[in-house]
Amino acid sequence: MLLDIKNLDLFIGRTHILRHISLAIPEGEIVCLLGRNGAGKSSIIKSILGLYPAQTGRIHFKGQDLSRASTRERVLAGIGYSPDDARVFTELTVEENLKLATWVTGKTSSQTVFSFDKIKSIFPALNKFFHRKGMHLSGGEKKMVSISRALALNPSLVLLDEAFEGLAPLVVSHFIKALQQVREMGITILLGESNVHIASQLTDRAYIIERGEVYFEGNPKEILEKEELIKLVGK
Ligand SMILES: Nc1ncnc2c1ncn2[C@@H]1O[C@H](COP(=O)(O)OP(=O)(O)OP(=O)(O)O)[C@@H](O)[C@H]1O
Ligand SMILES: [Mg+2]
Repeated sequence: MLLDIKNLDLFIGRTHILRHISLAIPEGEIVCLLGRNGAGKSSIIKSILGLYPAQTGRIHFKGQDLSRASTRERVLAGIGYSPDDARVFTELTVEENLKLATWVTGKTSSQTVFSFDKIKSIFPALNKFFHRKGMHLSGGEKKMVSISRALALNPSLVLLDEAFEGLAPLVVSHFIKALQQVREMGITILLGESNVHIASQLTDRAYIIERGEVYFEGNPKEILEKEELIKLVGK
């Protein structure tokens, strides 16, 4: 397994947010976390990144125990992240937003940095607004920049939270192709996704998260066939 999570528990204050979460993410796959609003998808992603440090449980990445590692150490170990709100720096251009990860870490060699050519081959539309400031981008354009930025340090795994949120149907199909291309480049993808139909087009591996627990593990197509499971994903 590229990422192996065992028995993770997360408390924020006195609230028990995640309960005994175990997930196995194989190398080279796309895996989806499904579940309704407030189920715990984003909290799992933030725990993997160390933004929400889990109190118990283990996170192994490439065989290395990252359970107590800092976020910086996890990023440098090869984990990229695009948050659910697709934050971009409004005063910086798209190009500068993408360079930011390399400025912060000091990594610039071609082995450690994803090339702009590769990013533009995944999202050709970036060419049109590469020199535009973040404040002048549409929601879908910000998503592209945020996902591209997650790739900037040549990660082995990218955590994409709500990558498809708010996109028009045509753009959704472009993003599906883009993510398939990312996977073909050997990058493993973990998605926080609220739409099971999109999940079923991307992968046969999904987890339903319900009230901070893993409720189901299997093929999204199975979810679409079962009334009881559809209710849990909210769509
Ligand atoms: N920083 C925080 N402080 C307090 N509670 C939090 C915090 N972050 C998340 N929670 C709570 O944890 C639960 C899980 O939230 P989370 O954001 O992980 O859900 P989600 O599945 O990503 O939902 P959505 O589909 O709305 O994005 C919710 O009840 C939420 O209110
Ligand atoms: Mg979320």
